[in-house]
Amino acid sequence: MFYSPRICCLLRWVACFRLVELFAPEKNPVSQQLAINNRKSEGKWHRMVRISLMSDIHNEFEPPRQPTAGWFALNNARKATKGHPEKGPLLTDLRGQAIDLVVLAGDIDIGSKSIVYADQVSRFLNVRAVSLAGNHEGYGRRDLNLLIPELRAAAASTEGRVTFLENESVTFDFDGQRLHVLGCTLWTDYAVNGAEPGDIERAMRNAEDGLNDHRLIVQDGRVFTPQDALARHLESRAWLAMEIARIQSEDGPEARILVVTHHAPVPEANGEFMGGKLSAAYASDLRQEIAHWRPDAWFFGHTHYSFDMMVGPVRVVSAQRGYVCREPGAEDFVPRMVEI
Ligand SMILES: [Fe+2]
Repeated sequence: MFYSPRICCLLRWVACFRLVELFAPEKNPVSQQLAINNRKSEGKWHRMVRISLMSDIHNEFEPPRQPTAGWFALNNARKATKGHPEKGPLLTDLRGQAIDLVVLAGDIDIGSKSIVYADQVSRFLNVRAVSLAGNHEGYGRRDLNLLIPELRAAAASTEGRVTFLENESVTFDFDGQRLHVLGCTLWTDYAVNGAEPGDIERAMRNAEDGLNDHRLIVQDGRVFTPQDALARHLESRAWLAMEIARIQSEDGPEARILVVTHHAPVPEANGEFMGGKLSAAYASDLRQEIAHWRPDAWFFGHTHYSFDMMVGPVRVVSAQRGYVCREPGAEDFVPRMVEI
């Protein structure tokens, strides 16, 4: 067969290209993950911030009373990895990834063990962590008025690795990209299934009858009541409004803001229990506030229902492990990577 010199040249080029492709190293998934993306909003480019989100880790249930095969596999994998935290989800896949921040959105463990774990995660992944209290942090019967400052002090002793937030904000700088992180437990307004006084009273009674919060948590030297939760919710909600307004007036409307709460800000976060007897103790309906405040994202936990939705332009997302050996999938849980 005879080819013209031009076609010969083309065939040689194609063969050469295929050879290069054949011997080229496989694309490295880690180096691909290391790229930090940018996004354009309102005519400006922003560096994306990569955050590893987890909540409701519930390390207090490890080791479990009745371990499953899945838990044994998890435990062996943790033990096989030098420096890995003894409890919690397997974090080995996160190592080597580009992560700017880890967020632990409450119900990590009882009391200050929650901060100990956040510090272990921070050391293992070599990244700073933000932690806040869920309701279970208070299950050690330590008075909430004492526990919150103790958690803050414990975080302060980690040499900057862990920041604890309760009605507080912290500002990070990632290669010149500022991110304000606002955190609080939030609790609830009990109004998600009806905002009439009778609806709220009923929701509070249901919570008092049905939740361990009102048996195991102590405040002011007595059992924590739904009225206490409502008062804390209103305080946090007023603080969020004030703090977001302050940041936006100082940094302008393009200020990058992440809100982290333990309790949920949208009714849908209750999943199949939406509208149920106890659902008002798990979520409030803050969709109007979210649309008005317009943070970049809102992370939450508490409902043991991992969730990702948009409220207007705001991403509302959770990544909740739940109880190992009791809830399906908990042993295989991996934190969710969120880019904002
Ligand atoms: Fe919770």
